Order: sequence, then C-alpha cells, then structure tokens
Amino acid sequence: MSNNSNTSSTHLVAGFVGGLTSSICLQPLDLLKTRVQQTKNATITSELKRISHVTDLWRGTIPSGVRTSVGSALYLTFLNITRTFVAEQKAQTVSMNRSSRLPKLSSSENLITGMFARSVIGFVTMPVTVIKVRYESVSYNYSSMGMAFKDILTREGPRGFFNGFWATTARDAPNAGLYVLFYEHFKSWLPKLIDRGDPSDKSVYSSSKSALINSMSATLSASLSTIITAPFDTIKTCMQLYPQKYPTLWGTGISLVRNEGVSRMFNGLSLRLIRKAGSAGIAWCIYEELIKVASTF
Ligand SMILES: *[C@@H]1O[C@H](CO)[C@@H](O)[C@H](O)[C@H]1NC(C)=O
Ligand SMILES: *[C@@H]1O[C@H](CO)[C@@H](O)[C@H](O)[C@H]1NC(C)=O
Ligand SMILES: *[C@@H]1O[C@H](CO)[C@@H](O)[C@H](O)[C@H]1NC(C)=O
Ligand SMILES: *[C@@H]1O[C@H](CO)[C@@H](O)[C@H](O)[C@H]1NC(C)=O
Repeated sequence: MSNNSNTSSTHLVAGFVGGLTSSICLQPLDLLKTRVQQTKNATITSELKRISHVTDLWRGTIPSGVRTSVGSALYLTFLNITRTFVAEQKAQTVSMNRSSRLPKLSSSENLITGMFARSVIGFVTMPVTVIKVRYESVSYNYSSMGMAFKDILTREGPRGFFNGFWATTARDAPNAGLYVLFYEHFKSWLPKLIDRGDPSDKSVYSSSKSALINSMSATLSASLSTIITAPFDTIKTCMQLYPQKYPTLWGTGISLVRNEGVSRMFNGLSLRLIRKAGSAGIAWCIYEELIKVASTF
C-alpha cells in the first residue's frame, strides 16, 4: 500500500486521457443524438445535411470533453480503489499471505463494486450535471454557469444540485455493475478463444493483442449492459420530461409497458448503443494500456 497515491494518480491520468480521447472521437455522434432528440421529425440524414462544415460536428467538444474525462478519471480511480479493497479483504480471510497477487473478484463482487463506484462518483459529480442541463436548457435562460449555480442555490438550496439523482443512479449503477461483470468475464474468456489451437506462451500478450482483447471486451460488455438497462434510460427520460405524469420509477415502468408495449422501453437504443460501445472500446483500451505502461516503470 506504500505506493497507493502513486497508483491512484496513474489511474486518474489514464482515465482522463481515455475519457478525453473517446469524447473527442464521438462528439459528432453526441451532437447528432441531441439534435435528433430535440427536433421533431428530424432524422440522422436530415440533420447531417444541415451541417455546413465538418468542424461543426465537433461543436461543444470542450465542455463535454472536460466532463467526460474528469468523470471517467474519478470513476476508474475509485473503482480500482474499491476493487483493490475488496480483493484485499478477501486475501486476508483466505490466507494471511499479503505478498501474493490479488485474488480475482467473484461475479457478484464485480457487479457490486461497479454499482457502488458509479453511485458514489455519480453523487459527487451530480451538481455539475444539473448545472450543465439547466444551463443548456432554453427554459431557464441563464447567461453563465456561475449564474445557474447561484440561482439554483438561492431558489432551491443545496438539494437543488441533486435533482434526479435517484433516477440517474437507477440507470447508471446497474449499467456500470453489469459492465464490470461482463468485462472481467470477456477479458478472461476472449484470450482462450483467440488462442485456441495456438500452443505458444499464453501468459504474455503483445501490446496489440491485449489492446484488441481489451477493446473487444469493452465493446461487447458495454453493448450488453446498455441493452439490458435500456428500460431505465427510457423511464428516466420520461420522468424528467413529464414529472407530473410519471412521479415514480416503478409506476412509470409499469404504465409505459401497459400503455405502449415492451418495445417502448427500448426507444432510442441504437444511437445510445453505438455511442456507449464506441466510447467504452476507446476509453478502456487506452486506460488499460496506460496503466500497463506505467506499471513497467
Ligand atoms: C415534420 O413532418 C411534417 C409532415 O411529414 C412536415 O409537414 C413538417 O414540416 C415537418 N417538420 C419539420 C420541423 O421538419
Ligand atoms: C488497481 O490498479 C493496480 C495498478 O495500478 C493493479 O495492479 C491492481 O490489480 C488494480 N486492482 C484491481 C482490483 O484491479
Ligand atoms: C506466501 O506466498 C509466497 C509466494 O508468493 C510463498 O512462497 C509462501 O509459501 C506463502 N506463505 C504462506 C504462509 O502461504
Ligand atoms: C431571457 O433573457 C432575455 C434577456 O436577458 C430576455 O429578453 C428574455 O425574455 C428571457 N427569456 C425568458 C424565457 O425568460
């Protein structure tokens, strides 16, 4: 544990670079998603036609890049701290031998550490999210982020910065937990699949091979967890848009399925899926490679 702060700063930097790269690469998708969602009967092609210059696709990269990269730096660092803590507790109960490698976490431990880390970081970054949403929204008319901050504080008090926290966490925590669970499975399963019939040394992977395995695992895991938790995203959006009609999580889910069918729960999945899978593939691959590079020094 002596170099704990050292490894934490490695995770912060690696998470930051991974998050930043993925948000720059995927900003065009994000922008199209927002425009398609906000404008009635707009399609991806109709919105693409309205873009006059390629650089327009990267409008708004700086605020969203800062938010994504800081968020992923905090999340990945805290996830590692949580998982290391759980693994150490386990190592101590299994045997007192602290010099051994960290034991692997079980599926339920992967799930729970992912959910826990996401919830804590979600709580810490919630004020930024609320300020950003309010600032962007046309119905509040703030001229600066600072003005949004002051106005929320005077009108609603500190609680105002945590509006919608539970709905957001109900979507993000299961998604993050399932992601970690699938990711760890794929990471140990894919190498076996790739190496089948190849008797060469399996303990050492070339950098390109491990990068491939990590980004494939990340893409697959993000797709699966996003599909499974898609209903929560739909519920959250409905609750935020029509709070009077949909006051509770559970009630919203039941009423949507009853009135509009199961397929309603998966509205808007395709763009979200491409974005989530793409950003996980880029961010986690960079993160893992940077951690590995740092550990060789
Ligand atoms: C939406 O579609 C309708 C009919 O297809 C059309 O009349 C209307 O102008 C469209 N609205 C926008 C904003 O393009
Ligand atoms: C946390 O990160 C360190 C490297 O910085 C790594 O050795 C360790 O295995 C990680 N912990 C877990 C549980 O993944
Ligand atoms: C602790 O681990 C080391 C190697 O990692 C091994 O040589 C040693 O026998 C272990 N001690 C106990 C008590 O298990
Ligand atoms: C927003 O502010 C501008 C100028 O400060 C004002 O003219 C406009 O009416 C405001 N809009 C709303 C919806 O309050």
